[in-house]
Amino acid sequence: TANLNELAVQAGLSYFGSATDNSELDDTAYVAILSDSTEFGQITPGNGQKWQYIEPSQDTFDYTSGDEIAELAEGNGQILRCHTLVWHSQLPSWVSSGTWTVDTLTSVIENHIANEVGHYAGQCYAWDVVNEALNEDGTFRDSIFSETFDGGAFLPVAFAAAREADPDAKLYYNDYNIGYSGSKATAALAIIDLIRDGGAEIDGMGEQGHYIVGSMPSQSDLENVASAYVAMDVEYAFTEVDIRFSSLPATDDGLQQQAEDYAAVVNACLNVEGCIGITIWDYTDKYSWIPNTFDGQGAACLYDEDLEPKPAYTTVSDILASA
Ligand code: G3I
Repeated sequence: TANLNELAVQAGLSYFGSATDNSELDDTAYVAILSDSTEFGQITPGNGQKWQYIEPSQDTFDYTSGDEIAELAEGNGQILRCHTLVWHSQLPSWVSSGTWTVDTLTSVIENHIANEVGHYAGQCYAWDVVNEALNEDGTFRDSIFSETFDGGAFLPVAFAAAREADPDAKLYYNDYNIGYSGSKATAALAIIDLIRDGGAEIDGMGEQGHYIVGSMPSQSDLENVASAYVAMDVEYAFTEVDIRFSSLPATDDGLQQQAEDYAAVVNACLNVEGCIGITIWDYTDKYSWIPNTFDGQGAACLYDEDLEPKPAYTTVSDILASA
């Protein structure tokens, strides 16, 4: 195979990485590919650092699942992207169903972040501090956070707490569909000012990049929007890329289209100074989240279910090799 991370680094990126999950780590063939740091220079835990696992009841912290992935990355010499601190999903019910004031929820957020970011201090290249706070129309998504704070005022609270607990981690806002033009990208751009106006710092914007084969944003649109973030003095990354088929099985033509769609992401990142890396949301269709969430859809990853590279893989490696 082509050693994607090695090629990406030669092309000027900081890494090419993959998400993984604790339940996958007893699959030795899978782990062998994941752990090859010439192939994947970076790992993101797909679940293990989320609030429901880390602080399942108030002020009780359990780092078992997150540590397993962090130690794997360290042992492999891979960069760790840490994911995620404040998100409406996978919250323990004591948070999502609690009765909070701005003051009490502020201290709950601060305590969670001080503990978790403190625990991983020095290990995380970056933290996805706040995840998916926006609706598609650019308003703040309903959540215990936006309801209690009456909007986005929880963002500077979270970013300030993360900075205090690990001054060296890059602090990201991470969301989907913020990497191409529209109301959501406009609102995401405004989040940078909201955080800074609230007295906190933000270092990066992450476009998750969960796309659909044949209905991708154009490469130029991806580049324009990425450049707009970078112009605000933050770095940029594609943090959770997968490009799914909305109906299966994939045809040969479909696999070629998927390769072109992956090419748009990789070329866009290479063309924007300040786009520092690409992470795929697991590398194999064997462990993709898509079929569990979108019935009948999938085949979204670079490797198939048998851990064999797909046409999109060849295209990605060719682009990186010639960059
Ligand atoms: O841990 C339980 C296990 O005990 C139980 O037996 C099993 C039965 O269903 O469920 C397990 O929990 C699942 C968990 O993944 C761990 O495997 C949840 O049901 C399942 O909903 C959860 O899905 C994750 C999803 O986030 C939750 O929203 C996916 O693996 C994960 O890839 C996905 O990742 C998100 C990013 O964090 C944010 N952006 C979107 C992305 C895709 O949805």
